[in-house]
Amino acid sequence: MRYGRGPDILTNLNLSLAPGSFHFVTGPSGAGKTSLLKLIYLAAKPSKGHVHLFGRDMAQAPASARPKLRRRIGVVFQDLVLLEHLSAFDNTALPLRIAGRKPADYRTDVAELLSWVGLGQRMNAMPPTLAGGERQRLAIARAVVNRPEILLADEPTGNVDHEMALRIFRLFVELNRLGTTVLIATHDQDLIARSGRPVLHLENGRITARPAPALQGNLL
Ligand SMILES: Nc1ncnc2c1ncn2[C@@H]1O[C@H](COP(=O)(O)OP(=O)(O)OP(=O)(O)O)[C@@H](O)[C@H]1O
Ligand SMILES: [Mg+2]
Repeated sequence: MRYGRGPDILTNLNLSLAPGSFHFVTGPSGAGKTSLLKLIYLAAKPSKGHVHLFGRDMAQAPASARPKLRRRIGVVFQDLVLLEHLSAFDNTALPLRIAGRKPADYRTDVAELLSWVGLGQRMNAMPPTLAGGERQRLAIARAVVNRPEILLADEPTGNVDHEMALRIFRLFVELNRLGTTVLIATHDQDLIARSGRPVLHLENGRITARPAPALQGNLL
């Protein structure tokens, strides 16, 4: 993968994520972690080679099929994208609304999820009035609310304290238990070390798989 005529960002990358797997992606800043997630989320196309999603070659999928495929993926972006004119509750509920669910059916679930990420008291707040870490937690709630088949999270614990980082990690583990394939880009070595989850390390355009570190402490 490369941007325009720029240098190759990812080269000879051959990666297959098993359904239901849980991985971290690490690597120095600029290594291509976000670019890798963009390929998976269909926000970027490979300059050469193929991306298969849910068993389908995306080069063969018509553009009209993409929005539907994307709805099966929950994404926490590095540059948080919230709808600034919708409350925290409505931002979180958006994927459910798009899926045609009725507010009466999801009100309790959304409230519970927001409480879990520490936003129980801020449900009616508008994004511009939220702190950076609160916005991040809101973006996470929205990404997981629909129990997506794949969850991609780009530095999801960058703006929160250690305790909240563990809480967010547990949320991802719970989702993974329910069957979601999880891929988290992070610089948080402490979280990785304590998670016991395998790591994909990106550097100089290449990816190497590292086994799960021995579990330190008990996160779960
Ligand atoms: N839209 C873009 N156009 C051109 N180059 C880009 C674009 N986005 C990223 N790059 C370049 O691609 C390379 C990989 O960027 P990427 O954002 O994937 O890195 P990263 O591993 O996520 O870094 P970080 O840890 O800082 O988030 C960098 O050299 C970056 O400058
Ligand atoms: Mg990045």
